[in-house]
Amino acid sequence: MLIADLHSHILPGIDDGAKDVTMARALLARQYNDGVSRVAFTPHFRCEDQTLEEFLQKREEAFELLMQEKTTEMVALEYRMGAEVYFSPAVATLDFGKLCLQDTPYLLVELPVTHFPAWVKDVFYQLQLKGIVPILAHVERYPYIMKNPHLLYELVSAGALAQINASSLLHNKKRKKIIRKMINWNLVHVIASDAHSLERRPPQMKKGIEELSGMVRAERVSTLLCNAVKIFSKEDFTPEEPHEPKRLLNYWV
Ligand SMILES: [Fe+2]
Repeated sequence: MLIADLHSHILPGIDDGAKDVTMARALLARQYNDGVSRVAFTPHFRCEDQTLEEFLQKREEAFELLMQEKTTEMVALEYRMGAEVYFSPAVATLDFGKLCLQDTPYLLVELPVTHFPAWVKDVFYQLQLKGIVPILAHVERYPYIMKNPHLLYELVSAGALAQINASSLLHNKKRKKIIRKMINWNLVHVIASDAHSLERRPPQMKKGIEELSGMVRAERVSTLLCNAVKIFSKEDFTPEEPHEPKRLLNYWV
C-alpha cells in the first residue's frame, strides 16, 4: 500500500518544524522507514506575518538547501511543495495557486483553535468558486469540532476535505472515539503526519495507521490512504457521501 504524507514541517529553518538540514534528513529517513513514499512539504504560512513572495522565496531556498545532498532515503521519496495556510478573511485575496499542493487544486488550511470563525464557510465558498479544494488540517485539534462534529459535516458537505494527524490516534482515548465516528461518517479523508521534529512532534505514520486499523474497518483505512495518494498524484477522486451526525441526548450518532 502506497503512503503519501500530505502534511509535514520538514523543510529546514522555515517554521517551527525541522530546525536544520540534519533534522530534515532524519525526518525523511523516519518517513521512509515508516513506509511513506510521497511527502508534501507544507510549512506554516500566515499572511499577517509575511508576504506571499517572502514565503515562496524562503520555501524555495529551504528546498534547495535540503536537496543539495540527498541520502539514499531521500532519493527514494517523491516530493511536492505546499503550505499550511492559517486562515483569516484576508487570505481570500491571495494567489492561492502558489500555496496549493504543487500542481493540484488542494489547499491545506488551518483554523484557529479557540473558536469557529463565522467567515469560514464564506471564504471556503469563495475558494471553491476559484476551483480550489480546501483540506482542513488536523480537524481533531479544534475543540469546537470535537464538541460539535456537525460543523465539520457542514464544511465537508459543502465540498471541503478533512485531515487527521496520525499522532492524535496514539494518545487521547476520548478523542479517538469521536475521530472514529467522524471517519465512519465519511467526514475524514486523509491521515497525515504533521511532523515537526524527531522528539517533540515526530512523524508517526506507521504507528498511526496501525492504530487506525484497530479502530475502523480495513476498507476505511485503505480509503484514507488511497485518497492521499490520489491527491498527491493529481488523480481525480470523488469523496464518499458524508453522513450527517445527529445529537441524541449527550451522544453524537
Ligand atoms: Fe501543521
